[in-house]
Amino acid sequence: MEPQTLSPTAGLKQPAFGETARRDLWWVQPVAVFFGLSAALAYLNWAAFQNAHYVFGNYLSPLYSPEVFGESPHAWFGPKPGWWPAWMPFSPAFLILWAPAGFRMTCYYYRGAYYKSFWADPPACGVGEPRKSYWGERSLPLILQNSHRFFLYCALLFLVFLSQDVWKALWFEDPVSHKTTFGIGVGTLVLALNLVLLSGYTLGCHSFRHLVGGNLDCLSCAPARLGAYRCSSFFNSRHMLWAWISLVGVTFADVYVRLCSMGVWTDWRII
Ligand code: FES
Repeated sequence: MEPQTLSPTAGLKQPAFGETARRDLWWVQPVAVFFGLSAALAYLNWAAFQNAHYVFGNYLSPLYSPEVFGESPHAWFGPKPGWWPAWMPFSPAFLILWAPAGFRMTCYYYRGAYYKSFWADPPACGVGEPRKSYWGERSLPLILQNSHRFFLYCALLFLVFLSQDVWKALWFEDPVSHKTTFGIGVGTLVLALNLVLLSGYTLGCHSFRHLVGGNLDCLSCAPARLGAYRCSSFFNSRHMLWAWISLVGVTFADVYVRLCSMGVWTDWRII
């Protein structure tokens, strides 16, 4: 007699939307994520549109780095290009923020978080969904989430740019003699901490982990890749934590540079 295979959910009634047997406070996390991500999105969009107060001496806000075109001395190719449409607002942040934004939007952790928080699909694990069938990420627009690997390449490049910014943040120009000397200010530490947090988030990316450790039959036969895989796995095991603290870190770095530039905060020199 042919063995019969039964679906593990065969015979079970699908719960209605929001229905669950869970007795814990399952809704707290999606609600917290909703407010946390909304606040971050609101601030980051506001800051990107400002096109002002993103530089303080040798400090450059990470939201504007690299500054491809712009008014500050950090700009690679000078001020706003002539081909920029006159009717369109300009900010150096517009030219670059698509990359880190795309990286976060397509991140496996954030996907799970904002699917639950912003459109309750599902509201949480073990809680009834708003629809009966599984659509997956096999058609537009969600199939575009598969571009995450390509955003990872951009994010790795951005770590190089941010490292250069930390290096520049170590060199201060004397306002009288115009000589440049080595130093460390609180802003240097803020930009360095931002780089560390973003590195922890990026190097723990699931795609990066697969990049360094995947496609091998014998990982232990390639010691360098095994080391990179273990390093990535270390960060990956706390990917959600790195995602959040790096988001707070990059936001705070912009706030710090902005308030110093506006004269609200004083940048204390440590060395
Ligand atoms: S999976 Fe989160 S950054 Fe790649």
